[in-house]
Amino acid sequence: MNNEYAISVNNVGKTYRSRDGADNTVLSGLDFHVRPGQFVSIVGQSGSGKTTLLKTISGLQDPTEGEILVKGRPIREGLEDIAMVFQSPVLLPWRNNLDNVLLPLEFRGTRTEEATRYARELLEMVGLGDRATRYSYELSGGMQQRVAICRALVTHPELLLMDEPFGALDAMTRDSMNIEIQRIWRNTGCSVLFVTHSIPEAVWLADRVVVVGDRPGRIVADVEIDLPRPRGKEHRFSPAFSEHATEVESYIGVTAGIS
Ligand SMILES: Nc1ncnc2c1ncn2[C@@H]1O[C@H](COP(=O)(O)OP(=O)(O)OP(=O)(O)O)[C@@H](O)[C@H]1O
Ligand SMILES: [Mg+2]
Repeated sequence: MNNEYAISVNNVGKTYRSRDGADNTVLSGLDFHVRPGQFVSIVGQSGSGKTTLLKTISGLQDPTEGEILVKGRPIREGLEDIAMVFQSPVLLPWRNNLDNVLLPLEFRGTRTEEATRYARELLEMVGLGDRATRYSYELSGGMQQRVAICRALVTHPELLLMDEPFGALDAMTRDSMNIEIQRIWRNTGCSVLFVTHSIPEAVWLADRVVVVGDRPGRIVADVEIDLPRPRGKEHRFSPAFSEHATEVESYIGVTAGIS
């Protein structure tokens, strides 16, 4: 039954039509399911359709084929359960950090005292408890991205979609964000779909790594990562880690082809 899945992507395709009427089929026959609480990384070459997939799952755009179900329900009924974090934090510069975190609740008309307490707790959890009333220009890039993650979490999403959230960060900040996101994920119990260009990052974080091949985007591999948790930096140097990373790497650039 579909209900047992946090998200079901059933035979999904997406074709963009250009102004001159030419069709560009970006995704075709995509089929995969995410169990509640699972952390799934998505990797694939640039242009293979990863962002298109996340936008389609988040309801920002409709698929041209197939269907997406959230806990067995059509996506339009499940949008409240989904939150997305983009590559750039996109914070509003005239609002302080706490007010940025609370923005989605204002849209929903549910900014309550309790929600404000929770937003403060989230900022605390990502180490920014003392910056709640500061503004984004007073923060580093990594700190801004942490605020954006709090903004996504404040609605208690059951599914968190992340599109290269740490792509712009330096290697050390990225490592600490990777440890932090694992902690957040364990604390909240949400399911995560995490797009990244970094194979080590994909393997380090995930229960499964889904590899998307391009022209058109299709799943060419779904690799289970059975490394122990919690995973610290030391796990990135283990032979088991390297084996998984090598396996994932071998699928990158595989063209799915049109059948
Ligand atoms: N709104 C759009 N209209 C038309 N074509 C689009 C649109 N969005 C994306 N595309 C096309 O779809 C294809 C996949 O783009 P997408 O952004 O999903 O790739 P990606 O895998 O996220 O790439 P990257 O790793 O570079 O972020 C590209 O050929 C792109 O030009
Ligand atoms: Mg992208």
